[in-house]
Amino acid sequence: MIDIIRADITTLDVDAIVNAANSSLAGGGGVDGAIHRAAGPELAQAATRLAPCPTGDAVITPGFRLAARFVIHAVGPVWHGGTHGEAALLRRAYERSFALAAGEGSIASIAFPAISTGVYGYPKRDAAEIALEVMRAHEVRFDRVVACLFDEESVRIYQELQSGE
Ligand code: APR
Repeated sequence: MIDIIRADITTLDVDAIVNAANSSLAGGGGVDGAIHRAAGPELAQAATRLAPCPTGDAVITPGFRLAARFVIHAVGPVWHGGTHGEAALLRRAYERSFALAAGEGSIASIAFPAISTGVYGYPKRDAAEIALEVMRAHEVRFDRVVACLFDEESVRIYQELQSGE
């Protein structure tokens, strides 16, 4: 079962948290800013060495001062109306995050924010459908998969999709 919660992802005690990053991996606003603030300056030092990260791809670094041992920096697509391959790129960002988590070998719990649905403008419901599809496809290999949302509307959308409404 995928845990749908409303929380600040930087506070979660899971093995890995996923960051909604940009290709420079240098930090930014939104959840990216929150994660870099909580992890400390070593996070940008470690991540920028792996930059640029193409849209739809992800990289993994230690979590430094975070409770989470790892941060998976995923770069979601900017929404341009839906005819620029956005859905495939968002799906790939989730898939690549799971692949890195599985490859690391010791990650049993992982939390995702609603990638691309903030600054990048991806419609929340369309993004949630993709996120939950990919999470369902991979959750069997993890003890805990968390959809960590930050607003009531997103929680409601995920819960409706989870219950098949
Ligand atoms: N914990 C969990 N979710 C959060 C947090 C937080 N602390 N802060 C924000 N969010 C939510 C937002 O409310 C939104 O639902 O994360 C989701 C993703 O929004 P953004 O952080 O704006 O990410 P995104 O839309 O993918 O845009 C990425 O924004 O911050 C920059 O550097 C980042 O250029 C990149 C772009």
